[in-house]
Amino acid sequence: MTNRFNDTPPITTDSDKKTVAATRVRMNELVMPNDTNPLGNLMGGRLLQWMDICSAISAQRHCNRNVVTISVDNVEFKSAIRLGEVVVIEAEVTRAFTSSMEVAMEAWAENLRTGERRLCTTSFYTFVSVDADGRPVPVPQIIPETDFEKERYEHAKDRREMRLKISRQNEEAQKRHGTRRREAGS
Ligand SMILES: CC(C)(COP(=O)(O)OP(=O)(O)OC[C@H]1O[C@@H](n2cnc3c(N)ncnc32)[C@H](O)[C@@H]1OP(=O)(O)O)[C@@H](O)C(=O)NCCC(=O)NCCS
Repeated sequence: MTNRFNDTPPITTDSDKKTVAATRVRMNELVMPNDTNPLGNLMGGRLLQWMDICSAISAQRHCNRNVVTISVDNVEFKSAIRLGEVVVIEAEVTRAFTSSMEVAMEAWAENLRTGERRLCTTSFYTFVSVDADGRPVPVPQIIPETDFEKERYEHAKDRREMRLKISRQNEEAQKRHGTRRREAGS
């Protein structure tokens, strides 16, 4: 597990200091009985909710405004997380566009008895910065510093285009589906 989260700089509204490092959030959650399914595993929806909260904090650290989730990328649950384990979620903004920000996340499970940590899922969530009326407002640009951050920053453009393409395809499919339902009278 990376330890770059140990030296997150303080929150800043200074646009010259809007680094990826300044957006880092590490959140810990203990898996309780109310979070699990009948097998004693963490429910996927609960993990998505915790990831949403963690990444929203990261986005707000960047833009210093309210944000709303606009999209959640593919999430795979490769390894079950058990009752009594700790979920450690790490989030950071990879790139800011006009009003939207992409946030990268890793979710780890930690066994408190053995100290073992395993990576359970990764994803990207996208947030839009909004004003008091819920309308999009511009966000500051982010400064990628390391080679890794710079590479991820470049790739964020392609991921954004893919999301917008899927969104358009979904809208078209919904329109077609709605037309067929109306034609069928349901
Ligand atoms: C987010 C919201 C304010 C955007 O309003 P809008 O009129 O659609 O605004 P736009 O079309 O200008 O899109 C705003 C930004 O979102 C981005 N966006 C739109 N759809 C997207 C998608 N599927 N994936 C990623 N980004 C997307 C746009 O590219 C734009 O980014 P940019 O300003 O950086 O270029 C509005 O859609 C909303 O309120 N959605 C509900 C949010 C919510 O309730 N979230 C919780 C869900 S339970």
